[in-house]
Amino acid sequence: MLIIASHNGAIGIADAMRALKSGASAMDAVEIGIRAVEANPDEHSVGYNGYPNILGELELDASIMDGRTLNSGAVALMRGFPYAVSVARQVMERKLPHVLLAGAGAERFAREIGAEQWDEMLTKEIRAVWRKRLAAVGATDWFERHSTETPAFTADTPLLDWVTLATDPERVKGTVNFIAIDGAGDIASGVSTSGWAWKYPGRIGDSPIIGAGNYADNRYGACACTGMGEMAIRAGTARSLVLYLQIGVSLPEAGRRAMSDLRDLGGDFIGGMNLVALSRDGEHAGFASEAGRTYIFQRAEMAAHEEVECETVAIPARWAGEARR
Ligand code: GLY
Repeated sequence: MLIIASHNGAIGIADAMRALKSGASAMDAVEIGIRAVEANPDEHSVGYNGYPNILGELELDASIMDGRTLNSGAVALMRGFPYAVSVARQVMERKLPHVLLAGAGAERFAREIGAEQWDEMLTKEIRAVWRKRLAAVGATDWFERHSTETPAFTADTPLLDWVTLATDPERVKGTVNFIAIDGAGDIASGVSTSGWAWKYPGRIGDSPIIGAGNYADNRYGACACTGMGEMAIRAGTARSLVLYLQIGVSLPEAGRRAMSDLRDLGGDFIGGMNLVALSRDGEHAGFASEAGRTYIFQRAEMAAHEEVECETVAIPARWAGEARR
């Protein structure tokens, strides 16, 4: 039995391992671990109290994948329901012939299955950070004109320039990944995120896209991503790493190749990426485009998780045509 997670999964990994040791499935362990992060008010890239979009609305994305069957469930752009991973799992378990529900449809489904719904998904502190960021890009007019804590955006308010400016590459980081192998040797993987801070409304990242931010296959292994989701979508990163395992490449080399595929992407917007991955034999690894990034793991016989450094595979960042560092 093994669980690996992005470093912000530390709050949930002990409960997830306890469940595995009591006979829970890998799917259960992944859900338990991620729910703890989704409820953590101090984690601003996942679930409750994440950074909102440019309109100040929290839109959550999540997915979960069962490596035994390749069944998957996902939600995107879901508002008002903090436990996005549980709703994602129900998309799969309720025998819908669908994998991904988004926006109003995801919310309707969440209500229909009785998922926990919270009236307020953001604290005053996070709303203040959002207002400050908007003000910094010249949206202050709105606050002055409307003299209100929440600017009165309308459907016609032009957002494009603000989003371009407010899109802060430093806040692309975040998201939580969990991957587990249970006592039966089954693998599951899950990802949950509030997405990119101050994103354009309706932006969907890699986390709910099976094959981009999340992939698990009992026969070979699993991979999940945090970082700039647009890159993982373009390169099909989680699936790529597992496919490299499938063709016989070792786990360290599979990670390096998946990261190199991202480095080779063209275009103006290239940021950071981090992968956690494991092979079906229980080998695990992390890969990051910046030095010093870590992930965590716990095996059944360990009293607590350990934090280990990811292998760095540099991806020089480019932003709006300029190298950032
Ligand atoms: N990796 C999370 C996102 O881009 O939304």
